[in-house]
Amino acid sequence: MYPVKDTKETVNWKDVQGQHITAVERNVLVLGSGGREHALAWKIAQSDKVSKVYIAPGNAGTASVGGNLIVNIADFNAVKDIVLKYHINLVVVGPEQPLVDGIVDFFKADTELKDVKIIGPDKQGAQLEGSKAYAKNFMEKYGIPTAKCFTVTSENLDEGLNYLTTLEAPYVLKADGLAAGKGVLILKTLKEAQSELKEMLSGKFGAASAKVVIEQFLDGIEVSMFVLTDGSNYVILPEAKDYKRIGDGDTGLNTGGMGAVSPVPFVTPDFVKKVEDRIIKPTINGIKNEKIDYKGFIFLGLMNCGGDPYVIEYNVRMGDPETEGVMTRIDSDFADMLDKCAQGRLNEAHYKASRDTSVTVMLVSGGYPEKYQKGMVISGLEDVSPDCIVAHAGTKFDEDGQIVTSGGRVIAVTAHGKNIEEAREKAYINAKMIKFDGKNFRHDIGVDLMNYHA
Ligand code: AMP
Ligand code: GLY
Repeated sequence: MYPVKDTKETVNWKDVQGQHITAVERNVLVLGSGGREHALAWKIAQSDKVSKVYIAPGNAGTASVGGNLIVNIADFNAVKDIVLKYHINLVVVGPEQPLVDGIVDFFKADTELKDVKIIGPDKQGAQLEGSKAYAKNFMEKYGIPTAKCFTVTSENLDEGLNYLTTLEAPYVLKADGLAAGKGVLILKTLKEAQSELKEMLSGKFGAASAKVVIEQFLDGIEVSMFVLTDGSNYVILPEAKDYKRIGDGDTGLNTGGMGAVSPVPFVTPDFVKKVEDRIIKPTINGIKNEKIDYKGFIFLGLMNCGGDPYVIEYNVRMGDPETEGVMTRIDSDFADMLDKCAQGRLNEAHYKASRDTSVTVMLVSGGYPEKYQKGMVISGLEDVSPDCIVAHAGTKFDEDGQIVTSGGRVIAVTAHGKNIEEAREKAYINAKMIKFDGKNFRHDIGVDLMNYHA
């Protein structure tokens, strides 16, 4: 559990900085600054095999599980400096952007870094998330079930407008590139879809929408499944359901994710087998065939359409807030799994997941996902039950050492129970302990799954 009460004492990582660090230590660096990275660092820090965990740049919460290193992770040379200075043996890349920008290739090409283990795919592999068109071509080439689609640029706009007329409403338009989770539009009428297509191609999402993928709408329930692979061996990690809309009952704008439940009742052994046979094995086969260097996470955004899984999207990282719930269900030494994965020896790792249910509730700033204020003082963290797990997503220390909000998603509270009801109750009681001005959260995380019968 997070030593929440100690957060203030570990404000600075000066203690860590002052210590003598030797090359024989096993030090892990997690790149990123959200709830996902806090949860990853927390889990990694539990390993007996790990000497120290560092998080770059981290947040007020990660300071309680390791040392925050303030660097701009988009600057790979700055990352290299800290990797060498702190004798890092294993780097875990949290977000997708450094992967899409080629951080793994940078490590492999650098004589001083090439033996440092790193979790994440190379630049080509990261295109599975970085380019929707690349991912769709990959799925088509390897026979992976997904919505049918058509790729449009300004060169073939008329064909795109025509293609829309062959589909039934609603219409799905996706910006090809990374658009901070905002690049997907679902439109009710043909007229709206045709006009949005034109707007996207004229730069609605900047360069990310210079190419647009039009997709058939898939009707079903979504689930996030996570695979850790060394490009040959793989482990299926616990799945989770994410709640993307801001409002109760799945209403309002899309967010980065307002909560999660793991496991998901409709992910039965039969469903997992279908995902494994139809999606995971062909994906790994494709990765090998394309000569992609992939030692990392594959996040499958799936739609369960009447019991059959379809890929909505690939991500090349873990999900957020799913990771916050998923990490708490892993009972094995996760750092050891990552270490073996990075060496292509994932088959030698031990993996066990708990049968508990985890429910994660995300506390967000008032106004999010639109305009919101930052700098609100957060109180009540010390009142949270020690058996709940608090992952900081958007927090920092202010000049007086107080923990304040610094993002739209602020804190994820995860509780366990023998079923969703029990975990929900605990998660909500504790989510209410934490206070800051404007705090908002969804009240219905997991409700839809409570009476779900496959
Ligand atoms: P993506 O960024 O591709 O995950 O899309 C964002 C969200 O849009 C997904 O989580 C789904 O809720 C929805 N979505 C994307 N593609 C489709 C589709 N083909 N059919 C139905 N919903 C979709
Ligand atoms: N929770 C969805 C994501 O991480 O993309």
